[in-house]
Amino acid sequence: MTDQITILGIESSCDDTAAAILRADADGVRIMSSVVTSQTELHANFGGVVPEIAARAHAERLDLMVEQAVDESNVPLSKLDAIAVTAGPGLIGGVISGVMCAKGLARGLGIPLVGVNHLAGHALTPRLTDGLKYPYLMLLVSGGHCQFLRVDGPEEFTRIGGTIDDAPGEAFDKVAKLLGLPQPGGPAVEREALKGDFLRFKFPRPLMDRPNADMSFSGLKTAVLRTRDALVAEQGGLSEQDRSDICASFQDAVRDVLVQKLYRALEGQFDLTGVAVAGGVAANKRLRLALEDVCETMDVLFVAPPLDLCTDNAAMIAYAGLELFQLGRRDGMDLVARPRWPLDQHSPAMLGSGKKGAKA
Ligand code: KG4
Ligand code: ZN
Repeated sequence: MTDQITILGIESSCDDTAAAILRADADGVRIMSSVVTSQTELHANFGGVVPEIAARAHAERLDLMVEQAVDESNVPLSKLDAIAVTAGPGLIGGVISGVMCAKGLARGLGIPLVGVNHLAGHALTPRLTDGLKYPYLMLLVSGGHCQFLRVDGPEEFTRIGGTIDDAPGEAFDKVAKLLGLPQPGGPAVEREALKGDFLRFKFPRPLMDRPNADMSFSGLKTAVLRTRDALVAEQGGLSEQDRSDICASFQDAVRDVLVQKLYRALEGQFDLTGVAVAGGVAANKRLRLALEDVCETMDVLFVAPPLDLCTDNAAMIAYAGLELFQLGRRDGMDLVARPRWPLDQHSPAMLGSGKKGAKA
């Protein structure tokens, strides 16, 4: 059967080492296997991802992940047609580890290599999971990224707006830290917020008055810090209820900004097939429901891929590689690992749109 394509995907741009095998044929695209190993425990004592530790761990684990993906898929290496690998943006040591692993395999097997932009992997995921057609609007909202992208093709991205400073996930993590909650902060803050009063504190909703889809979250985190300090000065500490109320009020501030900016991002976009979200923050139920409501109001389809395909994984890299491969893209042994690689090459660079070092 000649129109069957089997592709291995490799991901190592931050602190997850992942491999996956995808098969495309006349019936569609199937994930044959997708394995991820996280390095969270290696970085736990450092308050963030340490690039050197990450790179070494990727180098140690990549071949194990590839072996596991091959075993679980029951597809022998000899049946692969191509290898897709994250070639950026990300922590450069990790990206190089992945690219070198992919080059070795491609050379050894005599098959083509396709370099993939990690963010394109996230942005194309709703096509893999839900068959969403071009063009659609994508909200990438994670620990290192926050942007609205119009997606017209596997290499055609237009940034409609994005954060000018922190990403929301970063804000969730910092707020959790300020309140003595565990990391990652998002799920912890969401849990606390369930018991809280979201109207008690009036946290800022920055840039709401601007007529574009740009966002800002760093002032919000500072406002939470001030509120905490004021309560501590006044009462000598924070009660359980104070903490829950701060979480609920903070979460609603993030929600209001994303909701308002989604309306802005949808302005004048009349040909979209849907709106999709990806990234860890999209796991937040209150946030997700609010975004879904906007789509209902605007009469546009809302797609939220399952969480394991919203966060870093290699199936999304294999899928983006597959679309590029089908368009004829082939990379050689000169494929370069890139720390920065904005998806929208035409807009001026912005934080959170392919910056160095951020978890994407
Ligand atoms: O996409 P992701 O797993 O990793 C990257 O950043 O690429 O996102 C992680 C971020 C963390 O900042 C985490 O606190 C946040 O997503 N997060 C959440 C929730 N679950 C994870 N934020 C808000 N609510 C959640 N339920
Ligand atoms: Zn990512």
